Amino acid sequence: MAYETILVEQRGAVTLMTINRPQALNALNSQVLRDLIEAFAAYDADPTQHCAVLTGNEKAFAAGADIKEMSEKDAADFFLEDFFSGWTSRVTATRKPWIAAVAGFALGGGCELAMMADFILAADTAKFGQPEIKLGVAPGMGGSQRLTRAVGKAKAMDMCLTGRMMDAVEAERASLVSRVVPAAELLDEAMKTAAAIAAMPPMAAMINKEMVNLAFETGLNQSLLTERRLFQILVATEDKKEGMAAFVEKRPGVWKGR
Ligand code: CAA
Repeated sequence: MAYETILVEQRGAVTLMTINRPQALNALNSQVLRDLIEAFAAYDADPTQHCAVLTGNEKAFAAGADIKEMSEKDAADFFLEDFFSGWTSRVTATRKPWIAAVAGFALGGGCELAMMADFILAADTAKFGQPEIKLGVAPGMGGSQRLTRAVGKAKAMDMCLTGRMMDAVEAERASLVSRVVPAAELLDEAMKTAAAIAAMPPMAAMINKEMVNLAFETGLNQSLLTERRLFQILVATEDKKEGMAAFVEKRPGVWKGR
């Protein structure tokens, strides 16, 4: 399927999605949202695909929500369209794992989109920020919440109130990204990491993702109970039997996906 603003290709069991509006530093307009919602839903529904990578280009992962599009809307438009809700309710509904591979700018909605990923791999050129305050607004796609959960109050306040950018080294130190790699190696490293995840038992990957996300969504006691219940579901899968048998027999596991 062809999209207007993103490129999508399958490499083995990994879906690679590339935001493709270089003339606007990959600014996220409504068409990008529509395309990504469809592409993530197609990825989630495809039984041959087990991990995805979302990336941009070397200059920008995405420099934010599209300011030109937003400048033409008033408060009633934003409210009536429930603008941004597709990002926080649809893109984040993806059940299978996906990685954001970030080079260059990840600002405003770009930083927020990267934070929707299960984790972020950053090039040494990556720059993160929530500069919305400079436009008289604030993050609208989850940035104030996800950034605070990721880096803590002090740094999140610093970023949101000053609008400054954080480079890749600082982002790794602050646990915003899982790893930093040289820019030239970013895509290879992301695809290699995604292939390693795609080779895991698929249901276990989905449930591991759900478990980690629980830590952000529920109180500890409820999360611990849900973690145990989800673990108990995994014990019923054929891949659990195979995984443990393979360990005991000192051979690689062969996964059925159920
Ligand atoms: N929306 C629309 N267009 C954008 C854009 C954005 N967020 N960011 C960059 N562009 C466009 C520029 O307008 C420019 O287009 P023209 O050539 O037609 O003028 C093109 O991309 C290249 O940008 P620059 O010439 O500005 O490139 P630069 O290298 O000099 O600067 C930058 C790069 C520092 C990232 C600068 O472009 C910038 O500050 N961009 C805006 C960043 C921003 O404020 N993002 C937050 C948006 S609000 C938001 O995201 C709300 C939310 O929470 C969801």
